[in-house]
Formats: sequence, structure tokens, C-alpha cells
Amino acid sequence: MGDGDGGWESWKWDESLFAGAARYYVQGRLPYAEGLADVLAEALGLDGRGRLLDVGCGPGVVALRLAHLFEEAVGLDPDADMLAEAARLAGDQGVTNATWVCLRAEELPGGLRQLPDRHPGGLVPLAGPAGRGRGGEDHARARGRGGDEAAELPYPPPPDDAIVALRRRYLGPDTRAGQGIRNTSPSGEDSVFRAAGFAPARRVIVPDGRIVERSIDDLVAMRFSSSPSAPHLFGGRVAEFEADLRRLLAGASPSGRFSVRLPDNILSIWQPR
Ligand SMILES: C[S@@+](CC[C@H](N)C(=O)[O-])C[C@H]1O[C@@H](n2cnc3c(N)ncnc32)[C@H](O)[C@@H]1O
Repeated sequence: MGDGDGGWESWKWDESLFAGAARYYVQGRLPYAEGLADVLAEALGLDGRGRLLDVGCGPGVVALRLAHLFEEAVGLDPDADMLAEAARLAGDQGVTNATWVCLRAEELPGGLRQLPDRHPGGLVPLAGPAGRGRGGEDHARARGRGGDEAAELPYPPPPDDAIVALRRRYLGPDTRAGQGIRNTSPSGEDSVFRAAGFAPARRVIVPDGRIVERSIDDLVAMRFSSSPSAPHLFGGRVAEFEADLRRLLAGASPSGRFSVRLPDNILSIWQPR
């Protein structure tokens, strides 16, 4: 078991964090806003030169969306299964200027050669907090358009509270992460970046608000793509959990369809002072 106190500070990278999650990721996660690449290109003055480094790229969803705005894109992630998925998707999408590096962010530069960069120091855009709504138990936040929203949607919203309760029945009340527990997430990125010589963050919103349809398979994939309910955590009971989850979802929507309104993406952009 892990650190026991449930705090972020004592949690260390753990190979099993997303174990088994990669193959569910693209199906399970909500898509980023359609305007992501255009808004970022405009905000950062991207012109096809330079190199993108996507740290914590997972299956490369963001790097693949942005690769055409750079000479080359490098996706970095410590999870080899995620990178295999990224390479597969790059092939499917015909993206030829992306490479994938199996490393933790803490190991950078890790042999990555320096480019003659026109933006020395680089730029660090992060999606959040609405961007984080793509994965977890937060369809409610993703809906976020007032109390009558559900009545306007073609299908019911996913029953997030019941799904969390089911997960807790299997895994206990703590939020699991790899072999440990992580009940909090780090915050204060702005002070970290400022201490490293970056200007205060600029926030740029990429509007979304599309209503998407989610099947039971999509919602099962979302669960298994998420570190607090990654398949490895259930051990021998993973099939039992999946069957219970499918029953719960079928009960919540007889058509087997759910509606989710996609959140705007909020980008935090730090640039060198
Ligand atoms: C929630 S996923 C996000 C994937 C992708 N950026 C996206 O938006 O779809 C987080 C990813 O960060 C990776 N990760 C976690 N800790 C990391 C670290 N210390 N260094 C680099 N990547 C890390 C995980 O392996 C996982 O693939």
C-alpha cells in the first residue's frame, strides 16, 4: 500500500498509475474543444517553426492536434502503453513529425537535444480546471449550465454520484493512484512557474458547449481510463466491477445513451518574462 496520509506531497511517481488505462483513453475521455489548435496558434503566434514538447502526453491527443503548428512534436510520458497508443494514433492520422519519449517530466532534459529555438524558455500551456473535466467524476462540472440543463438534453446525464458510490464499494473511500492514495492534487502552479522565471499566467478560453452522446461502452472506458479507477486496482474483481457498472448505467438510461455538454477549455499560458 501507499503512503497512508493521502496527501499529494508524499506521493511518488508509480508505474501502475495508469496501468491498463491506455486502451480506454481515447474512447473514454471527452474531446478537447474544436478550436484548441487555432486559439493556441493565435495566442502564441505559432508559425510552423519550433518544437512542441507535450509533457504527460498520454496517448498524444494534444500533441497530435497541435503537431502541424510546429516543425516537430515530442510527446513525453512515463507510461509505455500510452506512448504505444500515441504512435498508433499518429499512424492512423498521418502525423509524421511526432516522436514519443518514455520519460518522467522530472528526468528532463533526458537527452532531448536543444533546438535553435525562436522562443527560448518555451511556453507552457495547461488545460484546466474545466479541461480536467474530461476524465473524472465531473460530468456535472462539464455540464455546468444551470439546474435545468438535464431537461434540455436528449438523454439523461451520466449518473456520476452513483458511479462514485460503486467505485467506493469496490475500492474504499480514498482516491487511489497507482499503489498509493492521492486524495489531493498539487496546486499553486503559478507560483512555481513564476519562481522559474515565467511571467504570471495568461488565461485563454477555448469555447465549447457542444452536446455529445455517450454510450455505456464510452462511460465504462472513461472509468477505466482514469487513474482512480484504472483496471489494475480491481485485481480479480475487474469483470465484476464492469458488470455492476454496466447494470447501473443501463438502469439510469434505458436507451443506453447519455448526454454530456462539453466544457470550455481554459488554457493557462506562462511565457518567459
Ligand atoms: C490525465 S493524462 C493526460 C494525457 C494528455 N495530456 C491529455 O490531455 O489527453 C495524464 C498523463 O500524465 C502522465 N504523467 C503522470 N505523471 C507524470 C510525470 N511525472 N511526468 C510525465 N508524465 C506524467 C501519465 O502517465 C498520463 O499519461
